[in-house]
Amino acid sequence: MGRRNRRRLEALAALTPRVGRVADIGAGDLELARLLLARGRAESVVAVERAEGAWRRAVERARGDGRLEVRRGDGLDPVRAGEAEAAVLAGLGGTAIARIVQRAAVRRPPVLPPFLVINPTCQPEAAVAAACVAGYAPERGAVVPEGRHLRLLVRLMREGGGQAVGVERDADGLFRLEDDRAVRVAYAQERLALLRRELGRTGAQRADVLETWIDHLEGWL
Ligand SMILES: C[S@@+](CC[C@H](N)C(=O)[O-])C[C@H]1O[C@@H](n2cnc3c(N)ncnc32)[C@H](O)[C@@H]1O
Repeated sequence: MGRRNRRRLEALAALTPRVGRVADIGAGDLELARLLLARGRAESVVAVERAEGAWRRAVERARGDGRLEVRRGDGLDPVRAGEAEAAVLAGLGGTAIARIVQRAAVRRPPVLPPFLVINPTCQPEAAVAAACVAGYAPERGAVVPEGRHLRLLVRLMREGGGQAVGVERDADGLFRLEDDRAVRVAYAQERLALLRRELGRTGAQRADVLETWIDHLEGWL
């Protein structure tokens, strides 16, 4: 596991609820899928990979491990409704995550597991907004340095998903963050500067999302 990646992957594993089966969407080299198994977060993992080369390599890597099943496809398409209790969408852009969630929500029956753990590489507000529209609420999160970037990780729970787990909220924020306060403030300042600039140029629909996030991030300072 690369040192650059290690902290983010460990934080993702820590945020993933302990469940039976996890769908790892955009599984790449299977590092995260294996870590979820090693840390006891999942008893089995369905690893989904869209790119042919990465999918072939993942199939080879998973050989001999009966807990790991690799499927090829787009987002949650290869996952059946009710098959996984959590889906992890990490290392994908925020708009890609948003599209995957929207697509899963309109399938009949919808493929919306009780938990989502997301880690967008960019535009995190687009991913969180789409998940909220699909019926999820942010529950916990963390900001983690990766190289020179600060990455947001969020666990969301489906409201009315039949789970008796309470959504935990901080007094000063929408969801509980488990990280270093200095890192979180640096992240909020960085995103706020960017979003305020964008707000001046954007259309009304995206403006709603940006304003919500600006309010939210101001609460982290
Ligand atoms: C940067 S890697 C991230 C790997 C790992 N999830 C992580 O967080 O370290 C992104 C992987 O997702 C795959 N991918 C991108 N879009 C996808 C989609 N819509 N469905 C499935 N896989 C996708 C890419 O082919 C690539 O292997």
